[in-house]
Amino acid sequence: MKRTLFVTTALPYANGPLHIGHVMEYIQADIWVRFQRMRGHAVHFVCADDAHGAPIMIAAEKAGKTPQQFTAEIAAGRKPYFDGFCIGFDHFHSTDSPENTALAQEMYRELRKDELIEVREIEQFYDPVKGMFLPDRYIKGECPKCGAKDQYGDSCEVCGAVYVPTELKNPYSTLTGATPELRSSEHYFFLLSDARCVQFLREWTAGKNRHGEPTLQPEVYAKTLEWLGDSSSTAAKGLADWDISRDAPYFGIPIPDAQGKFFYVWLDAPIGYLAALKNYFDSGKARANGEPRSFDEFVADPGVEQVHFIGKDIVYFHTLFWPAMLKFAGRKVPDNIYVHGFITVSGEKMSKSRGTGISPLRYLELGMNAEWLRYYIAAKLNARVEDIDLNPDDFLARVNSDLIGKYVNIASRAASFIGRHFDGRLHPDTQGASLAAARAAEPDVSALLEQREYGKALREVMRVADFANEHFDRHKPWELVKDPLQRDTLHAICSDALHCFRALTIYLAPVLPSTAQRVATDLLGMDRPLLWSDLDAPIERIAAYKHLMTRVEAKQLDALFEPPATPQAVAPVPGGVELAPLITIDDFAKVDLRIATVVDCDFIEGSDKLLRFTLDVGEGRHRTVFSGIKSAYGSPEELVGRRVVLVANLAPRKMKFGVSEGMILSASHADASAQPGIFLLAVDDGAQAGMRVS
Ligand code: MSP
Ligand code: ZN
Repeated sequence: MKRTLFVTTALPYANGPLHIGHVMEYIQADIWVRFQRMRGHAVHFVCADDAHGAPIMIAAEKAGKTPQQFTAEIAAGRKPYFDGFCIGFDHFHSTDSPENTALAQEMYRELRKDELIEVREIEQFYDPVKGMFLPDRYIKGECPKCGAKDQYGDSCEVCGAVYVPTELKNPYSTLTGATPELRSSEHYFFLLSDARCVQFLREWTAGKNRHGEPTLQPEVYAKTLEWLGDSSSTAAKGLADWDISRDAPYFGIPIPDAQGKFFYVWLDAPIGYLAALKNYFDSGKARANGEPRSFDEFVADPGVEQVHFIGKDIVYFHTLFWPAMLKFAGRKVPDNIYVHGFITVSGEKMSKSRGTGISPLRYLELGMNAEWLRYYIAAKLNARVEDIDLNPDDFLARVNSDLIGKYVNIASRAASFIGRHFDGRLHPDTQGASLAAARAAEPDVSALLEQREYGKALREVMRVADFANEHFDRHKPWELVKDPLQRDTLHAICSDALHCFRALTIYLAPVLPSTAQRVATDLLGMDRPLLWSDLDAPIERIAAYKHLMTRVEAKQLDALFEPPATPQAVAPVPGGVELAPLITIDDFAKVDLRIATVVDCDFIEGSDKLLRFTLDVGEGRHRTVFSGIKSAYGSPEELVGRRVVLVANLAPRKMKFGVSEGMILSASHADASAQPGIFLLAVDDGAQAGMRVS
């Protein structure tokens, strides 16, 4: 039975370059898609940038661009990643598109018809300086529970308390520093708590696809039960209605019949899957890819399977919101959501703000083979929601021993005998032990690839490769070749090895598409890519063996994993002043120095070093900063009114006496016991609180 599949990966936010986590997701999906195609199925594999939302709007504004310009530049940078890592999306689109606008508005209207939309008045923080309602992540303040300063609007990093932003004490906007005001506004809600939704989601999450496989992985299903309020679980909360609107200014899709209201980005983002598919159909690409129908016919066909690959952080959106939206908008619901864990690099979590250890583009720039990474990631992946680690030693060992030492080794040795002694012709007998081993592994390998158990599938392939190498060695072809009576045996042994090698190439082709392509064209003389069904056709002759793959070298991995170029330390100067290592202007630009006016300054009981400063940094609020200058400034009241230089973007530090929100600059000798004294920097007249020092 030929399957027709519509496959997507999650849509990356259009606010920055792709990282190794994105690449891992694309590799996982791409392998599955290539496998399906090799089995003769039709696959339409699309993705898009997720362009909307407040963070992107704000990032664009900071960059002095319109959100459209900003996201277009991001989009223009995507291709090198896809080409470089052989990610075969059939189409890449954007959620900021006419298709998405039309589809989102149309689906919303359907939900409204179903009486699943309700307007409610809610109170929310508003930044009066910026003139906009503040998303939670742009509000900070003191934890309502423990009083820790500078905590985000949803939870406290110090005591772990969870709350809503309106509970924060002394809240401020991180965009302007202004004190936010509570204002009320009408918001649109999707009534997920409606009995029809709950009923549907209970069924859908527990359901199976047409092949009898569950729609969700067991651990994902268990999570949805928690959210849905499994009747047997005490943690049952039930579903909350979903706030799907945001007030202008917002970069998003206008809500029909609602002045100044936009869809929350997470409403239109998954609809972007359909928008990308529609643009792919309308641009004629689907037809070129063998699909003659229109978009509307295609998406209405119950025979089409819809599969989304996503990471574990966005399960709620994909297993509750998205299927419910589709269902009640009268559309087909997804057949499977395949969730993966996160990739860490040398055991470290990737940080969205700092960026992570290794950059995919740097990998390519270093001339490293994309298929090494594809193989490595595949070897670590399974069908569960487990994190995987990218580690240089492991990478080197795995790639070199499996791909070069086992797989490529079979071809390079056997092909040279066939070329030299048999004019490239293979023995007609295909009853050899190595091919038999490869054939015997086929049901497992294909089932494992189908189930996304890539690690297990590759172990099966390498087990057969080990067998083939041992079998080859056991017959000592280098001795057979000296004995004319053994010529037929030599021929059969080498031919068997090559038949086995082709089988393994077929199994590996979803993971190593370009190597497989070179085997097909250069070695086997084929004029099309390998298919799963090529397993049984005898090979008549091969061309001269050309080198297939090089080893990864330790120095390449060193270069990839080395922290971003740290400039050399300057040699100590004989006079005794030893400078810190050189930094670049970019490093310096990270330090945000500001003029601050001392509003208040006093002693701290119990500290003989510190003074407590209350500073005005022109932010519309005051900061508390502790500075260890008490020994030099004995009468703090004299400091009130003077201006100092402050490191204003230093991470807040919790000290015994409170949280310090920055550092005041002062000069002192390296060896204070030899040359005591602490000297505040003076600020010339005219410089005002908040001015940047650069
Ligand atoms: N824009 C949303 C998705 C909308 S889908 C309708 C989003 N974007 S994202 O750029 O933050 O993440 C895109 C995908 O990358 C998600 O599936 C996410 O889980 C995945 N990953 C992000 N970091 C990852 C790792 N460290 N490891 C593996 N995948 C990771 O969420
Ligand atoms: Zn707290």
